[in-house]
Amino acid sequence: MTPAEDLADLAEHFRRAPDTFTASPLYQALCRIVAGDEPALELMRGRRPGQQPSFLLFGAVQYLLLSGVEHELREFYASIAGTPARDPAFVGPVFVDFCRQHRPQIEELVGTRLVQSNVARRALALRFALAALRGAVDGPVHLVEVGASAGFHLYVDRYGYRLGGRVFGPPDARFTIESEWRGDSPPDLSSLPGIASRTGVDLNPIDVLDRDQRRWLRALVWPEDRVAAGLLDAALEQAVAEPVRIIRGDAIDVCPELGRQLPQDEARLVFHAATRMHVPAERRAAFDRAIDAMGDTGPLYHVWLEPASAPHDGSSAQENCLTWHVPGSTRPINLIRAEGHLRWMAPLNG
Ligand SMILES: C[S@@+](CC[C@H](N)C(=O)[O-])C[C@H]1O[C@@H](n2cnc3c(N)ncnc32)[C@H](O)[C@@H]1O
Repeated sequence: MTPAEDLADLAEHFRRAPDTFTASPLYQALCRIVAGDEPALELMRGRRPGQQPSFLLFGAVQYLLLSGVEHELREFYASIAGTPARDPAFVGPVFVDFCRQHRPQIEELVGTRLVQSNVARRALALRFALAALRGAVDGPVHLVEVGASAGFHLYVDRYGYRLGGRVFGPPDARFTIESEWRGDSPPDLSSLPGIASRTGVDLNPIDVLDRDQRRWLRALVWPEDRVAAGLLDAALEQAVAEPVRIIRGDAIDVCPELGRQLPQDEARLVFHAATRMHVPAERRAAFDRAIDAMGDTGPLYHVWLEPASAPHDGSSAQENCLTWHVPGSTRPINLIRAEGHLRWMAPLNG
């Protein structure tokens, strides 16, 4: 791709991105500004392959603000200025000035960091899939998360949940994940199979004790979403209290061997959310094959929540759906409708 083509692609990405940031008026405004500002687009030229440009740029900028960089831009961030922050309608020239002043720092972050947003609320999706295994598997299941980041979802059975009027999870949970149920009667997710082991895989596992890495995770939370910021802090404490194994490496390399290491013939549930979308398009088939290979040594349930990206390019998989492949098949089966950040869930026919 030529530099001019890359810039054109980036401009198109930022033109479309406001649809992604539905709950962030600030990021919606910033997308429109960046789409029409060549120096801001140029900042993204050194990003690592596959990384989603808007998440990465906005993460880098918020990271600098959270690090204490003084600039008028702070006033527009609810995460820093509190609510109400300044009206995003006026952020344009302030943002452009910030990018001009802090160009080298932004380029450095964009070139070295990964989009690693760890959204604790997505544990609800994994809980739904685990609950769907009741009756299907006899013994406990091995849980693997690909693209685990700090590993929050591997504690799926430790959190409390409130979905519709229904409450489940251990009574002494550190915190509760709440989600709207857009249907008649919410599903009962109180009973899960046992979890035989928990393993994450990530290009760059987050060290939850490292202040800088914690700040990077905070910087990836949309500024207005104070609920997500609170959940992030609580989930970090859970991760500090009970470390899990997260293998460093590309899932393409790690998964086949990890599958072989799991006890023969024991069921394994492999989950990924907002991860395949960051795998460069030309490597996605290899990513799918690597996960499939985990089914060579035991029954594989492959579950995902991925926007606009389905393993094996399954045509019946749809956006805003939790979907899986069951053992012996690569036919995607939708399990439940779920907003990408689990703000709501709904029945398939709802
Ligand atoms: C946007 S984060 C999502 C984290 C978590 N799954 C969630 O939903 O909260 C994507 C994660 O996938 C990891 N990742 C991306 N490509 C990967 C690959 N090929 N192999 C392993 N991890 C990968 C990134 O490092 C990052 O931590």
